[in-house]
Amino acid sequence: MILYFSATGNSLAVARQLAEQLHEELMPLVEATGVDLTNEKRIGLVFPTYDFNLPPALRDMIAQLRISPKSYVFTVITCGSMVGNCVWVLRRILREKGIELAYSHKVSVPDNSALAFGRNPNKQLGKFARVPARMEQIIRELQAESHTLHYSWFGLLSWLLGRPAIENGMIKALGPKVNPDKCIGCDICVRVCPMENIQLVESRKTKDRPSDSKQSDKVALTGDHCTVCLACVHACPQQAMTTHGHETLKERQYRNPQIKLKDLQLLPAKRK
Ligand SMILES: Cc1cc2nc3c(=O)[nH]c(=O)nc-3n(C[C@H](O)[C@H](O)[C@H](O)COP(=O)(O)O)c2cc1C
Repeated sequence: MILYFSATGNSLAVARQLAEQLHEELMPLVEATGVDLTNEKRIGLVFPTYDFNLPPALRDMIAQLRISPKSYVFTVITCGSMVGNCVWVLRRILREKGIELAYSHKVSVPDNSALAFGRNPNKQLGKFARVPARMEQIIRELQAESHTLHYSWFGLLSWLLGRPAIENGMIKALGPKVNPDKCIGCDICVRVCPMENIQLVESRKTKDRPSDSKQSDKVALTGDHCTVCLACVHACPQQAMTTHGHETLKERQYRNPQIKLKDLQLLPAKRK
């Protein structure tokens, strides 16, 4: 079983390839917390790096998983360049459940947070050139049920940068906000948010809106359990989501070229 978390498709593309090549099923991590996985012989965890660490929401989700200590548990982490603390933190969460992480490796792909720092993730597509060789290695090692943690030694830097204070600060700073003047209430952000943290609410401007307006009467509103995956920022067709208070430019919105928008609409209740 391959469990994945993905906002813009990089981790989903990796998870799909692993599932295909290893003949495993694929399941979103957000759906897996309520499922009994104790009969699974092999469990893969595929997710992105956030601030040199696991995405905050994933720590609870992984802690809640029902996995057998006899399973071969591995992780493949996607990142722009450095996974930092991810392997150590994941290893600790699993150990607290009596499970040993058998294998880890990373895949470097475009950094989807680049748009929040005034850079364009779409200018990093050259990183895909190295992905096939890395995936070949990972699949070969996983088929052999290798016990290897491939992690880098940028230890202290990663440890410092992964401290909760810095991380929570980052999350507050990057946390997407809706620009109600641009939002047309189309609900794409609602459907791609893996945290179910966005809802459509009655727009305050409804009564002022011209009757021939294409806009719906609703406007998106973000809640308080955002994990800053930026799925909404990248998917919004109106570029109505801001990060850092900065406007989002269409050319900086990113989705992995192998992944369609509908593939990122996670929860069955939200699939249309
Ligand atoms: C909030 C946030 C923080 C990130 N921090 C890091 C980081 O510390 N190191 C890194 O190499 N990439 C970082 N990234 C980039 C993502 O890990 C990378 O683009 C990943 O492949 C996205 O996966 P997805 O498309 O499956 O969501 C960050 C992305 C976000 C949204």
